[in-house]
Amino acid sequence: MESEVLEKATVETDFLPLNGTDHIEFYVGNAKQSAYYYQSAWGYKLVAYAGPETGVRDRASYVLEQEKIRLVLTTAIDPSTEIAQHHLTHGDGVKFLSIWVDDATKSFEETVKRGAKPFMEPTRFEDENGYVIISGIHTYGETVHKFVERKNYNGPFLPGYKKPAFAMDVKPVGLRYVDHCVGNVELGKMNEWVRFYEDVMGFKLLLTFDDKDISTEYSALMSKVVSNGNGYIKFPINEPAEGKKKSQIEEYIEFYKGAGVQHIAIEVHNITETVGELRNRGIEFLYVPETYYDDVLDRVGEIEENLEDLKRQNILVDRDESGYLLQIFTKPVEDRPTVFFEIIQRKGAQSFGKGNFKALFESIEREQAVRGNL
Ligand code: FE2
Repeated sequence: MESEVLEKATVETDFLPLNGTDHIEFYVGNAKQSAYYYQSAWGYKLVAYAGPETGVRDRASYVLEQEKIRLVLTTAIDPSTEIAQHHLTHGDGVKFLSIWVDDATKSFEETVKRGAKPFMEPTRFEDENGYVIISGIHTYGETVHKFVERKNYNGPFLPGYKKPAFAMDVKPVGLRYVDHCVGNVELGKMNEWVRFYEDVMGFKLLLTFDDKDISTEYSALMSKVVSNGNGYIKFPINEPAEGKKKSQIEEYIEFYKGAGVQHIAIEVHNITETVGELRNRGIEFLYVPETYYDDVLDRVGEIEENLEDLKRQNILVDRDESGYLLQIFTKPVEDRPTVFFEIIQRKGAQSFGKGNFKALFESIEREQAVRGNL
C-alpha cells in the first residue's frame, strides 16, 4: 500500500515523462561506409535515408534499426556546416541523445524553465505520413537532447526521410534496446551535470562510485548514475580522478576535445551468442586475463550460464542485491580512443558491473599504453 502511494506520487510529480530513447545520432566522417559497418557487423537494418536524393543538400543521414534501437549516422556534405565543424573537432561521435516523449512542447518548456539551455524551440515537421514535434536542449559538451513527439506520425523515421532505395540483407545479432548511455565530463564537473539532470530534467541519483571503488594502480574515475522517473533512461556521468597516470576519462576528453558520450550499453537476450557472432564479424572487445575466471563464481555465486562459454567469449559477471548481470565492452569503434559499446544481459541486477571495474580498467590501461596515452 505504502509503495503504491509512493509510486503514484512519483508519477504525479514527474514533470518530464519519458517513453525511452528515440534515437542516437552520430556525426561521422563517412556515413555511407559507417552504415555498412553497422549493417554488416552489427546486423542493423537500414530503414530510412535523407540526403541529396531526397532534397537535403548539406548532409546525408542513414537510419538503422534493430529491435528497439535506432541509430542515425549523419555526414556533412557541405564543409561550411556545423556538422562538418563538429566532425573536425570531435571525430566520429554522438551529437544527439534523442528522447521519445508524448509532448515535446511541454518537455522543452519544463526543462528550459528549470535552466536548460535551448537548442531548438518546439518545431513541427510534416509530410504525407503525418507530423512530429521536435524540440531540444543542450547537455554536456556539444551533446544535445532532442525531445521527439511522434504519436501523429507513421513514416519510416521523421519527415524528410524516405525509405532507402536499396537496403542490404542483414542478420541481426540479438540487440534489443538501449540500457544506458554514459557521458564523460571534465575534472570537477560531474556533480554539476548530476545537478543538471536532477534539477532540470527531474532525474534521481541512482548510484555513486568514488575513486576507491574503481581505482587501479594508475588511474581512477568517479561516476554517478542518474535515472528518470520510470527508469527507462539511465545516464551514468564519469569524471576523471587523480591517479599516478592518465585516467581513461582524461584520454577520452583529450581526444574528443571535450565532454561527450563515452559508451552506449545495449541489452541482449543471449550474450554468449551475440558476442560470438560479433567476434565472427570482426568486432573487437576488451580483454580480461583468464585468471579473472578463477574466482569469479566465489564472488558472484551461482549463475545459469556455463563458465567455460563465458571464458571463451571473455564475458564478465557481476552481482548485486537483485540479481546478476553479464557484460562486455568493445574497443573504441573509431580511430580516436573515444566512443565504444557495451553489451549487457541483465539477470535481475539493476547495477552497472562495479565488481568488474578493476579488471576492466586494467584492460583499458593496457590499451592506453599501446596507444602511448597512459
Ligand atoms: Fe556501462
